[in-house]
Amino acid sequence: MSKIENVKACVFDAYGTLFDIHAPTATIAGDLGDKAQPLSDMWRGKQLQYTWLRSLMGKYTDFWQVTGDALDYSLAAHDIDNPDIRQRLMDLYMTLDAYPDAVSTLEQLKASGYATGILSNGSHEMLAAAVEASGLKPLLDEVLSVEDVGIFKPDGRVYQMVVDRFGIQREEVCFVSANAWDASGAADFGFQVAHLNRFNQPPERLPGVPKAILTSLSELPPVIG
Ligand code: LAC
Repeated sequence: MSKIENVKACVFDAYGTLFDIHAPTATIAGDLGDKAQPLSDMWRGKQLQYTWLRSLMGKYTDFWQVTGDALDYSLAAHDIDNPDIRQRLMDLYMTLDAYPDAVSTLEQLKASGYATGILSNGSHEMLAAAVEASGLKPLLDEVLSVEDVGIFKPDGRVYQMVVDRFGIQREEVCFVSANAWDASGAADFGFQVAHLNRFNQPPERLPGVPKAILTSLSELPPVIG
């Protein structure tokens, strides 16, 4: 693991990194029973697949639509035909909680003088609702959405938004993602990347190698020089 040095801004992926994507199914686990976790896993997997496939097809639509389509697929695959459950899961996804380590880490980074931000597939509306609900809003200088470039990660135009908005060089960005494929994409683009391995995944076999592997966000401030 190398030290991440000469950083001006720390930019975070949103879903799975700062916001707890498994909270919606966990919240209504009483209604979902033993389908809660497999449903959540499939929902997330399909959501990501649809972003990659739509990017390849040149058929961008916003992440809220993609998230709903992925949920509909996953509910059907689990034989759950219940509009009330669908509505509650989507409502919960709009106002996700932050992981417990997010607020304190962002506070430390701000206190050390770093600019901070989010770079996410999420739509502006989803991100605004989540940063408000989670209490992260005052700790973020920028909340960047792929909506402005009309294609999903890991397209280079997405990562370029950080360079343009902060007015800094690629290598001055510390990018943090719990999605290993996003960490690879960002490293391949030229950011200094910390992969937050919350989900205990093996390394991706992709171009772009993260400089640091973390198991919790609180490990980030000591790694940045
Ligand atoms: C995001 C997804 C990849 O927030 O988690 O961009």
